[in-house]
Order: sequence, then C-alpha cells, then structure tokens
Amino acid sequence: MTDLDPPPPAARPANPRFSSGPCAKRPGWSLAALEQACLGVSHRGKEGKAKLAEVIARSRDLLDLPTDYRLAIVPGSDTGAVEMAMWSLLGAIGLDVLAWESFGKGWAADAAKELKLEDLRVLEAPYGQLPDLAQVDPARDLVFTWNGTTSGVRVPHGDWIASDRAGLTICDATSAVFAMELPWDKLDVATWSWQKVLGGEAAHGMLALSPRAVARLESYRPPWPLPKVFRMTKGGKLNQSLVEGATINTPSLLAVEDALDGLKWAEGIGGLRALIGRSEANLAAVARWVEATGWVGFLAEDPATRSCTSICLKIVDPWFQGLAPAEQAAAAKALAGLVAEAGAGYDLGAYRDAPPGLRIWGGSTVAREDIEALLPWLDWAFARVKAGQAAAA
Ligand SMILES: Cc1ncc(COP(=O)(O)O)c(C=O)c1O
Repeated sequence: MTDLDPPPPAARPANPRFSSGPCAKRPGWSLAALEQACLGVSHRGKEGKAKLAEVIARSRDLLDLPTDYRLAIVPGSDTGAVEMAMWSLLGAIGLDVLAWESFGKGWAADAAKELKLEDLRVLEAPYGQLPDLAQVDPARDLVFTWNGTTSGVRVPHGDWIASDRAGLTICDATSAVFAMELPWDKLDVATWSWQKVLGGEAAHGMLALSPRAVARLESYRPPWPLPKVFRMTKGGKLNQSLVEGATINTPSLLAVEDALDGLKWAEGIGGLRALIGRSEANLAAVARWVEATGWVGFLAEDPATRSCTSICLKIVDPWFQGLAPAEQAAAAKALAGLVAEAGAGYDLGAYRDAPPGLRIWGGSTVAREDIEALLPWLDWAFARVKAGQAAAA
C-alpha cells in the first residue's frame, strides 16, 4: 500500500460468496443439513425413491407447476436436461434459437453443428441486448435461455410467445427458476439445475414437460441416434417412472438431500414470492449503487431486461474505456482479484466469453446485506486498480 491507496471499507460481507454457480448455500446452511441423507442404499429402493419423488413434488409445489406438466430428474445437470430435450424433440419442424450470450450461443451451436438441423434460424444479439423477439415464428420450435447468465440480460416476460403456437418452446431456465416469475403456459420444456438459485449441490438436472411436449415425444422419433441417458420414452410412450423419481442412471443421494434442504428452506421463508423478493432486492441494491457511482454501469442496456440473479456490470470510466481490450480484461481481473484477496467477495469476474467487467450473483440465497457490504469494496478495488495503472502509465 502507498499513501495514495484508499483505505479499505470497515466491514466485509458476512458471506462473501457471489459465484454464479455453484451459488451460495442458503443462509444458515451447514453439513448438518445432510444428516438425513439416505446413503449407501439403492436409489431404486423405497427410501431412495421416496427422496427423489419428494424433490419432484416439492419443486412442483413451490413453482406452482401446472398439474398436467410432468417433471423429471435427469442426468447431466442443466446441460443434460437441455440437450436431452433438444435431442429428443427437435427436427420435426423448423427451429428458431435465440442467442445473446454464451449459453444461448452454445445451444445454437448444438442445433447447427451437432444435430445439423437444416431448417434453422439463429436470432442473435450482442452482449447487453436481446434479439428482436418479434421475429420469433410461432409455427417453428424455439430454443432460448430465460436469463442469460453471462450477460445479465433476461427476457422481461413471455408475452412475445404466442399462446396458440404450433412449435414447442424449449427454455433453459436454470438461472431464472425460483428467482423470477415464469409463465408456464408459454414454456413447453423448462430446465434447471440444483446449484443455482437454491444453492444446492450440482448433480442431476430438472426437466419440466408440457402436455404438448409429451405429445411430440410420443409421436416423433428423431433421425439421429439417442444415447441411453437421453431416452425418455418406453414403447413409444413417456416413461412414466421417470417422472415419479426413477432416474435413468444413478444419482447422488447426498446431492438429493441437499436439494431437499434448499426446497424446505424456500418453503420456510414464504415460497416463490419470498424467493423472488430476495433476488429482486439484491438487484435493487446494486441498481441504487450503480446510479450513484460514476465508474460502473449495467451490461444490460434496457433496465427491463436486467437480471436479478446474474447481475453483470461494465466499467464505463473513461480511463478504462481508453484501454486496449487485453488491458481492460487484465484491469477487470485485477479488480476482482483484489476483492477476493481481501476476503470481501469471491468469483466476481465476468464470464470468460463476456466483455471484461464484473458479475455479482444476486440469487435468492444471497442476502441483500451482503451485496450492500460488497459494493464499497468494489469502489475501493476500482480506485486502487485505476491508481496503480495510471501511476504505471
Ligand atoms: C443459462 C445456463 N445454461 C446452462 C448452464 C450450465 O449448467 P450446468 O452446469 O448445471 O449444466 C448454466 C450454468 O451456469 C447457465 O447459466
């Protein structure tokens, strides 16, 4: 430290964990939460299967999933759930994919390069924006991400999805579900993982299917080979046991117990409304600070599209803007590094494919007080990085 260095803030966040996945555990979590785990016995036995069925039942209740939707626990976390849906359902009609950040781009690449779909339109937008949602064709299938975790841009609502669509909507909702309102009638498939908004351990994924998605599964057989971990039908019908807790392959019952712990915590604090309220309060706290702070701005250009979970920020200070891209990346990394080194906040760097900047996870397990305690540390670290680099120039 030199005399020019600003003094560090007086207090650190009680929980300095702001990673966008795995995300912070729920307040008060300890390993004791896993004591009732059903370990060393078969997941197909009475007790193991009951635990899996309980994850499905509690998730359905908490999310108020329509009674005619099916919910399954599937291999490969959220990625597995999205690819299972894509590989099982696509190819019957044309497909639109929306891509405005890394994960959407990944699903577009799956459709183009792996499934090699010929009738494919990829509607793209740069980081910070959404594609033109009016271009989505209801006669075609659609794959999209509700919340773009790497740009902090979410779709603001589902009004742009036609109620009388002919195509299926497949929605990667992993960083939205439990923290944002989702219009289930507009989503034929929705996927998520355990380690995001409820802070569970990463493991299997969740796959929700509308009656129309089930009808496609039962009436259409894709032309490509389907690996065993993707197979949802048996004898041309939806494999009913899958939506009752019988997984295709072996799940971690320790992770299942942790998923149950997160669901019970969510119920205890007041359910979905309370979860959404906590996350929106985190976004509001960051927004107040951004408003009052000259050097930082939201990556999301339209306030209506700002994510309340993956809160992505860009550095707008003229000194930073004047740096070459590699120097910007190094400065943003140094800023996040200083905060981590001080023990005031971990994993605050922007995603590796995103523009240099910061990302703060504001999902429902994160306390507003911790976000508020973090923000002065960002000011402190920015001032230090700027002073250091300006002095070196
Ligand atoms: C939007 C989105 N899709 C997919 C994934 C991949 O999820 P998982 O690692 O659970 O497969 C993530 C993880 O951050 C994500 O944010």
